[in-house]
Amino acid sequence: MDHTLIEKLLAVIQNVAAGDYSNEIMELTGPGVPEPVRTIAEAMGLMMVKVEAREYRLEMMVEELRQLNEKIRQTTINTVSAMANALAARDVYTEGHAARVGEWSGRIARALGLDEKATERVAVAGRLHDIGKIGFPDRLFQPHEAQNPPEIIKEITKHPATGATILQELDFLGEAREYVHCHHERLDGRGYPRRLRAEDIPLGARIIAVADGFDAMTTNRPYQKGMPPAQAMAILRKQAPVKLDSDCVEAFARILEEDGVLPDS
Ligand SMILES: [Fe+2]
Repeated sequence: MDHTLIEKLLAVIQNVAAGDYSNEIMELTGPGVPEPVRTIAEAMGLMMVKVEAREYRLEMMVEELRQLNEKIRQTTINTVSAMANALAARDVYTEGHAARVGEWSGRIARALGLDEKATERVAVAGRLHDIGKIGFPDRLFQPHEAQNPPEIIKEITKHPATGATILQELDFLGEAREYVHCHHERLDGRGYPRRLRAEDIPLGARIIAVADGFDAMTTNRPYQKGMPPAQAMAILRKQAPVKLDSDCVEAFARILEEDGVLPDS
């Protein structure tokens, strides 16, 4: 037996084992190659073809999965938009509020270094944060005073938990549901509905609280004229860190400076 042939066969097999599927093996399948080198080389060649076909199928499946994921993502966004629009249709006095809070929340999340998925979760929760209000009686959507009577306040404070309940079945929302539940908590534990404190409040909810607070102060409502952005930011800074997360407030301030909404500091 020609030892160089066997050495060549071994070298090719080692290359294949290392993932290099070159066609060198074919040189050992010709009629001039003695047995058993030729038989081994032919078997090896067949195996390589099968492995390559399998790899190709796997790649196709991965691509299919990627497309399915993208479809789910798009459906999520559409579902969330439909829900947010349903609330907006009832609450005409806060037009655009959910969309702005959603967008700002996502941008704050990104600025704080959250990855794409986490950022999207925060943006989605921002969009849906007040969805629990959809169950409010009509009179709560009518023009009213800034200071509500206690029985109305009691009703209003239920909306984060109602929101979380409404979103319960939507598994794809993941933690976003919890952010909705916690968006009125305060760092000092004096928020609602569960009086969570500091780090016990998920970051996503702390982010939304900042964007929500800013939008509530700067927009015109039946009972208030929106205040200038700089004044609202000064109030947010004052409320941190007792009520709000300072890092979130400062990240938001930088975003508004970038947008030219606030002067550069
Ligand atoms: Fe709210």
